[in-house]
Amino acid sequence: MRNDDTQMHVRGSSLFVDDIPAGHDALHAVLFTSPVARGRIRSLDVSKAAAAPGVAAVYTHKDVPGLNQVGHVFKDQPLFAVDAVEYIGQPIALVVADTARAARRAVKLIEADVEKLDAVFDPREAAAKGLIHGKKRTVVNGDPDAAFAKAKHVVQGRLASGPQEHFYFETQRALAVPGEHDTIKVHASAQSPGAFHHHIAEVLGIPMHKVELDIRRLGGGFGGKESTAVWIVAPAMAAFLLKRPVKLALERNEDIATTGKRHAYEYDYKLGLDAEGNILAYQVDLYQHAGACADISLAVLGRSFLHVCGSYRIPNIRATAVSCRTNIPPNNAFRGFGVPQGTFAIEAAITRAAEELGLKPEVLKRRNLLKDGDTLPYGVKLSSVNAARCWETLEVSAGLKARREAVEAYNKAHTDTKRGLAVVPVCFGISFAQTALNQASSLVNIYVDGSVAVSTGAVEMGQGVNAKIRIVAARTLGVPVERVRVDTTNTSRIPNASPTSASSGADLNGMATKYACERLRSRLLDFAAEQLKLEVSAVDIKDGEVTASGKPAGLGWDKLVKDAQWARVDLGEHAFYATPDLHYDMETERGRPFAYYSYGASLTEVLVDCLRGTYSIEAVDIVQDVGESLSPAIDRGQIEGAAVQGMGWATMEQLRYAPDGRVLTGVNAYKVPDIKFVPRRFEITLLKDSSNPYAVCNSKAIGEPPFVHGIGAYLALGDALRAVRRDRDLPSLPLTPEKAFMYLHAPAR
Ligand code: MTE
Ligand code: MOS
Repeated sequence: MRNDDTQMHVRGSSLFVDDIPAGHDALHAVLFTSPVARGRIRSLDVSKAAAAPGVAAVYTHKDVPGLNQVGHVFKDQPLFAVDAVEYIGQPIALVVADTARAARRAVKLIEADVEKLDAVFDPREAAAKGLIHGKKRTVVNGDPDAAFAKAKHVVQGRLASGPQEHFYFETQRALAVPGEHDTIKVHASAQSPGAFHHHIAEVLGIPMHKVELDIRRLGGGFGGKESTAVWIVAPAMAAFLLKRPVKLALERNEDIATTGKRHAYEYDYKLGLDAEGNILAYQVDLYQHAGACADISLAVLGRSFLHVCGSYRIPNIRATAVSCRTNIPPNNAFRGFGVPQGTFAIEAAITRAAEELGLKPEVLKRRNLLKDGDTLPYGVKLSSVNAARCWETLEVSAGLKARREAVEAYNKAHTDTKRGLAVVPVCFGISFAQTALNQASSLVNIYVDGSVAVSTGAVEMGQGVNAKIRIVAARTLGVPVERVRVDTTNTSRIPNASPTSASSGADLNGMATKYACERLRSRLLDFAAEQLKLEVSAVDIKDGEVTASGKPAGLGWDKLVKDAQWARVDLGEHAFYATPDLHYDMETERGRPFAYYSYGASLTEVLVDCLRGTYSIEAVDIVQDVGESLSPAIDRGQIEGAAVQGMGWATMEQLRYAPDGRVLTGVNAYKVPDIKFVPRRFEITLLKDSSNPYAVCNSKAIGEPPFVHGIGAYLALGDALRAVRRDRDLPSLPLTPEKAFMYLHAPAR
């Protein structure tokens, strides 16, 4: 079954925030934000803006009825700046007017006198100055110093990976509608129902039971709508104070310039191997470019940190990670949640080592691939490792050996163009690394007509979580999927929901739904057995029919439900699920943070024009372990989408900043992969015979892990570029055509 929304999306009939009727008296809000990366606000004059045509109100920190805070993990992010600003784009005031246009015009009339102070834009510089969020983390396993001393080969260097703009179709937006008794209903494009519900109530200074947050679907989130609540809380505050509906919607360039991105990272690495190419030791230091507030950066960094080994067995390791406080908008979650960044360093290091050893990278990688019994740096002993199975399936399905030979033959025969190839294995821990977030609840209601409504805390953003939940409910109850509908995500129906993130939406909410449906089913089976005067063990429900000892019992689902309700059987159920056996100790850096791991392997092949530096991604083959897929169509879509997004990060997506910290890249200059960029050969294989007792119906999470395959585009380009020259270091990620050109044509050293 495919995503329920697909047809509607294609026809343009899916509802997003802008499609919800706002009412004739609705107002529009626009933020006035800091023009300076770091400074002290000497004075702020909003009087001209307040007097401008159509303006209903202008709000600053002084107008906040409750707490002037939207800090997600730490309370370090005021909704409106008080006397200091720490990044360009930081909200200072909110103009509310009849139209968005009137509000935008009035914003220009606000006069802010901001004294400029020295700002920091370099993560290494921030770290050196002690400007960090939280604490530096260090994990040590084995004896890295002794292992390096024994190593036959040691490669070391510096690396960097760049930021990435989420570029969701629907920019940040919300519509807030006031109700009676100082209540408020907010329709938002948001991934975190529970946390944002809390933020709204805190800022408004009212109890959470007066706030209802409702989320139908997102026009994409990709992590960018998980942590920063500004664009939802600000219109909610205005609606609350003005007692009129208020909508806020960022324009595209405003969104690009002022919202957080994927974190750029800097790395120092050192990799030691024995003569045969077995990895003995790895040392890596991660510098995360976090931005001005902690936001969700420490969680992202933690995940990078837990994934520094990628898919490899590394017996001796020392890894450190630090979140650097710089004067750019606070960066946040982005598909992969730090795993691509953490994995990039080991992938680049091992590729470099292969060159040193005179081996093909895929040979070295295969030799060091994780297997059952291997231990990860934080003490988890692995079992059910599917890394080698994915790799071996890929070797066959992609024809790895022949493809490598063809690349070599091509490169011998050509000088103006070169081909390159890379194999990337993926090992991605599933569960929120923050144990507390691994919980979900589900409310399942069966109505007297036999239709079923499910509400969970999961947010639909294109990944098909609602379709998967629908499948789980239908399967468990024994009715056709058409009888089940998944309702909006609503805080009045499902309280305190974790964000839909960490690829765990279907795992957690699916499991809670399964529990609720199992209880309903068991009540209905009891009732059916009573009606049919049979043992409960003899009755079953399948495809909407009651069966007795496997044969139709002449009792359909609709009649069963109707009779049960009349006989006063409860047809509503709420259930809760918390992933068992998760724990982690940040002091010792040991524990079991993930319920299981998602594996994959991919082959990427590129063609580089050595005169122009331009290139094309010729072919991508992916084998991905999805367990027993709930929906192969959705999972394939997720693999394709994530991999292409990863390729964009690795190759063409680049943001430029002015020396004063301003984002120079607008929608006209930010390139995201389009259909022409997608490789002509794009083969997806779902790993056969994989099962997973740790997630709903033996499935495996799929939303983020395949993003990591995008690194293959960088490495394959590197492979082609190294076929031309090897007298300098490869450019940092993203490897844009400009960087490829500069690498190819730089003067010889
Ligand atoms: N797919 C689409 N189409 N749109 C999105 O915004 N977000 C990704 C991924 N796939 C996203 C997507 C991210 S960042 C995550 S964490 C997962 O979906 C979340 O959904 P799940 O937990 O239900 O897999
Ligand atoms: Mo996804 S980055 O975990 O929302």
